[in-house]
Amino acid sequence: MINLKDYNTFGVEALAEKVLIMNKQEDIFQFVEKHNGNKEFFLIVGGGSNILFTSNVRGTVLLNRLMGIEIIESDAQWVTVKYESGVLWDDLVLFAVQNGFWGIENLSIIPGTCGAAPVQNIGAYGQEIKDVITGVEYIDMQEGNSRYLNNLECSFGYRDSIFKRALFNRAFITSITLRLAKQAEPCLKYPSLREITVPGKTYSVSDIRNFVIQIRESKLPDFKKLGNAGSFFKNPELQEAHFYELKQHNEKIPGYKLEDGLIRVPAAWFIEESGFKNTIFGNVGTYKKHPLIIVNRGGASGLEILEFSQKIQKAVFEAFGIILSPEVNII
Ligand code: EPU
Repeated sequence: MINLKDYNTFGVEALAEKVLIMNKQEDIFQFVEKHNGNKEFFLIVGGGSNILFTSNVRGTVLLNRLMGIEIIESDAQWVTVKYESGVLWDDLVLFAVQNGFWGIENLSIIPGTCGAAPVQNIGAYGQEIKDVITGVEYIDMQEGNSRYLNNLECSFGYRDSIFKRALFNRAFITSITLRLAKQAEPCLKYPSLREITVPGKTYSVSDIRNFVIQIRESKLPDFKKLGNAGSFFKNPELQEAHFYELKQHNEKIPGYKLEDGLIRVPAAWFIEESGFKNTIFGNVGTYKKHPLIIVNRGGASGLEILEFSQKIQKAVFEAFGIILSPEVNII
């Protein structure tokens, strides 16, 4: 049995029967051929930064370590880059920024691998990977063959994609391809970025990366010091009627209208209002600077974290009638 503590950013203990490192596509095909005829259970893990282990894994953990970056196409305006899925997401961002490629700088220092990025359509400070990704290559673990999905076929949504649904743990993503801009395309509309930039001023892509790093480091805990998986819940999307009904009771409730007419509200606000600001519950708690982040204060088990998250869900539901859905994959 192998302890998965070092393979998840919550830093919780869980055992797996086996851990296999996948360094190249051939390793994955071999695994499928050898072990999967008898439907052995497996779990694909990248950086382990969006996963909560609440029990042991009866089977094999496949660690994605496929490495490589390749420029596929380049003209005066655009560049298409293919990244193997085991590359750390932030190494990808750094590569893009150092080369002056625009489109993912606001996604700086998000933990995890490139392969995990499309699974939950990572997003931050006004950018989302769905806006730059052209396609995803994966190995179908049931069929044992390589497949490709273009952007549309990935069914991206807010923190969502086909890889979180029909293809969850069935698609071993092997590479992602991004189309990035060579001309400046700053995206500074997000409130915290607006606060630290001067309107009309010209910024380089690396200036923006540095701003994002500054914001993230001031608000989000470093999982190496305090176990966490970023936002634990998604920001809920409410029907307009529900939102305005809540507003009647408390006009301070923030929210912004989406293209489809729904109103996205910040889960952090509701969690705070429900009494969970900097709350401690045994070895678990909400992060002192951001209540949407559940932290392992040391020695917490996955079940304790799950139990605490359920307390939050219950309190928010009782106070506001809002259902919080986990963003983290609970295993
Ligand atoms: N807020 C509070 N109290 C707080 C902090 C925030 O009430 O202590 C409310 C405020 O109304 C604030 C709003 O929450 O305006 C939004 O806060 P923030 O800008 O920190 O963003 P978020 O909605 O909590 C989302 C993503 C983050 C991403 C940031 C920045 C989700 C689930 N989370 O958080 O992504 O970094 O925006 O774009 O959409 C992640 O997915 O793991 C993650 C960290």
